[in-house]
Amino acid sequence: MKILGIETSCDETAVAVIEDSTKILSNVVSSQIDLHKETGGVVPEVAARAHTEKIIPVVEKALDEAGIGSADLDAIAVTRGPGLVTSLLVGVQTAKALAYAWEKPLIAINHIEGHIYATLFGVEDQEGEQKIIMRDPDSLPAVILTVSGGHTELALIKNAGDIKRLGSTIDDAAGEAFDKVAQLLGLGYPGGPAISRAAEAGDPGKFDFPRPKLDSDDFDFSFSGLKTAVLYKVQELRKNDELNEQTISDVAASFQKAVIDVLVGKTIRAAEENNAKTIMLSGGVAANKSLREELKAQTTAKNMKFIVPPIDFCTDNAVMIAAAAFPKLENGDLADWKVLGVDTTLTLVDLGN
Ligand code: KG4
Ligand code: ZN
Repeated sequence: MKILGIETSCDETAVAVIEDSTKILSNVVSSQIDLHKETGGVVPEVAARAHTEKIIPVVEKALDEAGIGSADLDAIAVTRGPGLVTSLLVGVQTAKALAYAWEKPLIAINHIEGHIYATLFGVEDQEGEQKIIMRDPDSLPAVILTVSGGHTELALIKNAGDIKRLGSTIDDAAGEAFDKVAQLLGLGYPGGPAISRAAEAGDPGKFDFPRPKLDSDDFDFSFSGLKTAVLYKVQELRKNDELNEQTISDVAASFQKAVIDVLVGKTIRAAEENNAKTIMLSGGVAANKSLREELKAQTTAKNMKFIVPPIDFCTDNAVMIAAAAFPKLENGDLADWKVLGVDTTLTLVDLGN
């Protein structure tokens, strides 16, 4: 069984081919980061145009690298949401057209489910081939935190077919907050890596920013108030002529600490309340070294296991989309190319029971 996965929910045009749920035959990611650096963020129309230019060459490259033709495929999987509408449309319309032209079943994937799959599997090099290794079932139940530019989700995984949503952001995603604060501080795009670099020279205790919803009973997050608090602080520093390299670093470090305190605090509590054996981390913000270190330290202090995929599988990729499609193909959970549309606000739906 070979599935071609397509991912275009934000600013990466990604296509991958996976065989029998374990073998990665190809994994092509064409990033638009350089394009969006010019505007300091993703302009949806610009992203869509780049996806439109890249999608067919990227599909061809993925098939070439896999050493197969379209006739060898058993299905086509595509991200249908959440994400930017203009970006999602390119992937979904391409997948629909290919499914029709090549007469293949079509499978619609929730992007967050994809990120969860990327953490549920490990990737190993075996005799020059990349293989997907499913995690030891002893790792489950696990609580997984998925944090990226578009989502902040906490979920409980009892097994691969039983995933329950615990909470999510009620406003900005964690990565979005990083990107917006970086813009406020003039640190450029993408904001996450820029903030973490600036934070290295800063004092995380210098400014006392709020930790929204840290002690609330639910497992939801909120970052817009924190972002506003940073805005006021930057305005105050600027007014007093105190905004300089050091204070920018101090704001970056204090902001990063506030985000990490909330993410780590709520994830640990979710794991304890659900008797989880493992805490998993995924999404682009998982690239943040301080977040990884802090969550790992607190997880191991509670005698739980900590799992984070390699960075390439934390950020957007199509391997996770093709991988998430295998159980759906087996269960006959197919989409109809005539009616499939995008869903920009799709949340993580509970899977299984
Ligand atoms: O998963 P991803 O590649 O795309 C989305 O699905 O959004 O995540 C991108 C997000 C961006 O907001 C970026 O600023 C953030 O991940 N990010 C980071 C770091 N590296 C990337 N955030 C914090 N620290 C980082 N080192
Ligand atoms: Zn993502």
